[in-house]
Amino acid sequence: MDRVRIDLTGAAEFVAADELALGLAQGVDALQVLKDGSGGGSAFLGWIRTPECVEAVEIERLKEVADDFAADIEVVVVIGIGGSYLGAKAVIEALSHSFDAHIPNREHPLVLFAGQNIGEDYLWELLELMQRRSCACVVISKSGTTMEPAIAFRLIKRHIEEKYGKKEAQRRIVAITDSSKGALRSVADWEGYRTFVIPDDVGGRFSVLTPVGLLPMAIAGIDIEALMEGARIQMEQSLMPTAENPSVQYAAMRNVLYRNGKVIELLANFHPKLHFVTEWWKQLYGESEGKEGKGIFPAGVDFTTDLHSMGQYIQDGQRILMETVLSVSQPERTLRIEAEAEDADGLNYLVGKRIDECNKMAELGTRKAHIDGGVPNIRIEIPRLDAHCVGALLYFFEAACGISGYMLGVNPFDQPGVEAYKREMFALLKSGHIK
Ligand code: PA5
Repeated sequence: MDRVRIDLTGAAEFVAADELALGLAQGVDALQVLKDGSGGGSAFLGWIRTPECVEAVEIERLKEVADDFAADIEVVVVIGIGGSYLGAKAVIEALSHSFDAHIPNREHPLVLFAGQNIGEDYLWELLELMQRRSCACVVISKSGTTMEPAIAFRLIKRHIEEKYGKKEAQRRIVAITDSSKGALRSVADWEGYRTFVIPDDVGGRFSVLTPVGLLPMAIAGIDIEALMEGARIQMEQSLMPTAENPSVQYAAMRNVLYRNGKVIELLANFHPKLHFVTEWWKQLYGESEGKEGKGIFPAGVDFTTDLHSMGQYIQDGQRILMETVLSVSQPERTLRIEAEAEDADGLNYLVGKRIDECNKMAELGTRKAHIDGGVPNIRIEIPRLDAHCVGALLYFFEAACGISGYMLGVNPFDQPGVEAYKREMFALLKSGHIK
């Protein structure tokens, strides 16, 4: 089974059975609101059907660009921020070789990111690298007006034009944006770039299964058809109007725990390649739920790494945490601990064990310790870290997020709070505060 499995037993002891039953019933109702479009933000529900709606011709066009770039381009810089960055980054990190950047004779271009910060050193050093490599760029912005990617694109566009000339720049720059509005649409049309459209009814943080996520993934050599198929199969499960639906179960349990004072959720992965899936999840849940003075604060930890930094607080600090463990059943590779005649390090008792067996024992032990310490635990498991399962995982979390937001009583599809920093920043920039 390539679907997402959820285990609530480590959290159930923290809530009364009737509270959970009520939560599950509310979750099923919230799913209905999502499906019939009767809740807040109903103009942004296009993502629900994305896995079955992306047309074969769109997939072909995405693969065409990827093949074109694979022919002679070494580095593709993907420019974007928030929902126009994190989904692609998450999937590429999850499904690529851990040391991808250092592998010689790669079959696919190296995908790097820009526009997700305003770091002068970062951009300078990126341009320096681009000078030494055959490069191209994919610029992504739904609004087409976001400042961070706009700054990065101005620099990178000029770099590519100066290095290759205007005509070749038309091949090396691809834009993903609104079908008609925004500065990026105007530039793309004016310059004659190849473009892909972000559907009007799909918000940024729900756009990973559109060209926003799919083009960078295809360029990085990821099987986007398998990813979409995984999402489609999960869609069938995550839209089931029953309390057995895993997305309903996840949304229900986290809301019931929140009502019981667990106001922070830690997403804890036990696989280093999942770090950016956690970052993507943080945006999805933080931006969707944190409003009107409400919302579970989404935080992330990489285990076992962070057990040596955050472990103390999780075990013994304020009891306001719930923990959701993200686990992968089977690693892709096999590596065992071998015997040493001297056993100077005392590890011979592990001889013959796979590294993943040690990791799974760490996971089990950590869950047990944290539950004993008063941290409710939800466990989410995928069978493997491949395109199919990652597609399923993304859809599982998206569906649960919509359900959870409605259970919380907020509109999960707007982000009015994001504007506040922009107002302050633009006021300062325009008032000449820059020295
Ligand atoms: O989820 C969202 O809508 C945001 O995080 C956006 O993705 C982010 O602000 C980037 O916006 P844009 O794609 O318009 O540049």
